[in-house]
Order: sequence, then C-alpha cells, then structure tokens
Amino acid sequence: MNKYIVGLPEVPERKDLYEKLDSCFESGWWSNFGPIVTEFENELSSFFSVDPSHITTVANATLGLQLVLTALNLKKGKVILPSFTFLATACSVVQAGLTPVFVDIDSSLCLDPSLVLKCLENDSDIVAVIPVDVYGRSAHVDVFEEMRGRVKVIYDCAHSFGGISDPRGDARIYSFHATKIMGAGEGGAVVSHDPELISRVRSCSNFGLGTKFVGTNAKMSELNATLGVLNLRRFPEIRRKRKNVVQWYQDEFEELDGVQILLEDLSKVNGSYVPILFRSESELIKVIRTAEENGIQVKRYFHPLVSSMPAFERFSVFGTLSMSESISSKVGCFPIHSSYSREDICFISGVVKRSIL
Ligand SMILES: Cc1ncc(COP(=O)(O)O)c(C=O)c1O
Repeated sequence: MNKYIVGLPEVPERKDLYEKLDSCFESGWWSNFGPIVTEFENELSSFFSVDPSHITTVANATLGLQLVLTALNLKKGKVILPSFTFLATACSVVQAGLTPVFVDIDSSLCLDPSLVLKCLENDSDIVAVIPVDVYGRSAHVDVFEEMRGRVKVIYDCAHSFGGISDPRGDARIYSFHATKIMGAGEGGAVVSHDPELISRVRSCSNFGLGTKFVGTNAKMSELNATLGVLNLRRFPEIRRKRKNVVQWYQDEFEELDGVQILLEDLSKVNGSYVPILFRSESELIKVIRTAEENGIQVKRYFHPLVSSMPAFERFSVFGTLSMSESISSKVGCFPIHSSYSREDICFISGVVKRSIL
C-alpha cells in the first residue's frame, strides 16, 4: 500500500466530530436542511462574503452543476466545456438534458476563450459555457464575463475552494468531496449573484417541490455538513500548510530542466493539487512506476480526455484538442496534504529525480 496518496482527506479531530454529532442525536434531525446545514451555509456565506441567500449546499458538485443547468431554464441546446476535466462536468450537462461540445484549453489549462468565441459564432445552439478551474487555477475571467450577455457562464470550481473567489459567472459550483482541500465526505455548494437562481436550485435539490422543474434529491445531510463545518474552521490553516508543501515541491523541482510544476503564482492557487508536467509521456510513465515501487502514488489526472471516454465519444469536438492531448499525456498529480513535512517532499522528489536523471 502506498504511503503517499493523492487526495488523502483532510479530517477534523475524532472527538470534535463526535461532540458535534451529539446535537443530531438530540434533535433527531439528520437531513432536510437541518440546523447544521444551515450553520454550514451561514459560515460559507461569510467565507465568500455573500448574503446567505446567494448560496445553497448540495449533495455533491456534480448534482450542483446539473441543477444549475436545470434551474437556469435554458432552451434545449449545447454547452461548451473542456475535455481536459473530470468526467463529472460532462455528466452534469448530459443529465440536465443538454449536449456537450468539447473545446480545447490553452496554456492556462483552462478553456481557450478565442476558441470559445469562434465556437459561439459558428453554432447558434450554444446556450452555456462551463469554464473549469483546473487544479484551482482560473483564467480569462474578464473574457468569459463579457460573454454573459450571449450565453450563461457557469464555473466548475470543484478544485478552487479558497482560491480566487471573485464574484463571477452566473453561478460557481464547489465540491466538498472527501479528497478535496475542503472536504465534507461528500458535498458541494452553489454560489450565485442571483438569489432567485439559488432558490430554484435549492428547490430542485429537494425534488423540485413547488416549482415547474423536475428536480432530484441533492440535499446535503447533517452528517456531511458536520464535517463541513469542522473542516471550514480549519481551512485557513490547512491551506497555509498546503501552500508550504507546494513551495517545497517548487524548490525541489526547480533545477529539473523541462519538468514543470503547473502552478505559477502561489498567491493565486489554494494548494489543492501538485500537477507536474514531464517532458514526455514515457517519462511520466517511468516516474509513475518508480514512484509506486517506493510507496508514492502519482495520478494521471485528467487522463484520458473526457471526449475519448466511451460515454462521451459520440459528442462533438470543436476544432482540435491538441493542447488538451499534449498536457493530458504528460501530467501527473503528486501527493499533497497539510501533514506533510519538508522531509516527505524531499523523499518524493528524490525518488522522481533518481528515476529520470
Ligand atoms: C473538475 C471537477 N468537476 C466536478 C467534480 C465533481 O465533484 P463531486 O465529486 O463533488 O461531484 C470533480 C470531482 O473530482 C472535479 O474534479
């Protein structure tokens, strides 16, 4: 079993969890927008500096994305998204009854806005664009904001909690999956400048009750909210420690010509991921194998591209995906956790360097 894994959960103290869960036993309230979900939503709204009416929790980010697409009441049409993303982004589009169109990324790792504009000009059926904050990075926000008159812009912020939090887009969707920097076991949040959209998403997460929408069950449970509340309190410290870890990785890999950590500016990232781009796919594969032999997991993320997965290959690609293919073939995500020390990172980087130097 690997000693170092990608996505090791950040968890609160056991005793804090048990203590807080006592209130569920006392109130008998375990779901349906209970007091701990309300507390979590209030604390999230302070975190994002928005009114509580601008935020709602959901069972996970995939359903959050799907319900935003549903509650925006879009005419049936197409949605632009990157292929270099987790398949959840594409699942949400199809589950909402819309059709994905895959567009390439640029060197920012986010959607290439010039290609998005070309696609919009070519195809009048496009109703929305989903830029993804890959590895917590965000790019071209100004250009996407300008598109908002023409199409809805929905940000997949599953990776970027605690990174840039500027109000942007028609909605932003965050993930609190156990492996995320801000975990709640499972969970997500939708943030929007439009309280009516939030109210519709909330109803849709409760089967669509009282609305004309066919919703689903996407309510967050009190158990997940308990983890969320406790982790949100620890979050600034977790982020600080993880940013140190990113810095250690950067120091260690600095001297390796042509090998690049795909995070440039520490002030703009949240310490979610450590993506390292190798010089070739064969070099990456060699690193993964040697790392595994030494108890270190290096994960190909995102690979393969979503558009080449069996469930999505029938959907169209606008132009080529050359940048997505190139990055996807050479990038590996390395373990990061708030408990890691400089020695841990020296060990991991030593193994990698020995395998490729
Ligand atoms: C880019 C991206 N979008 C969406 C999701 C889905 O998040 P969740 O697991 O909360 O549904 C993930 C999950 O890893 C993701 O990486």
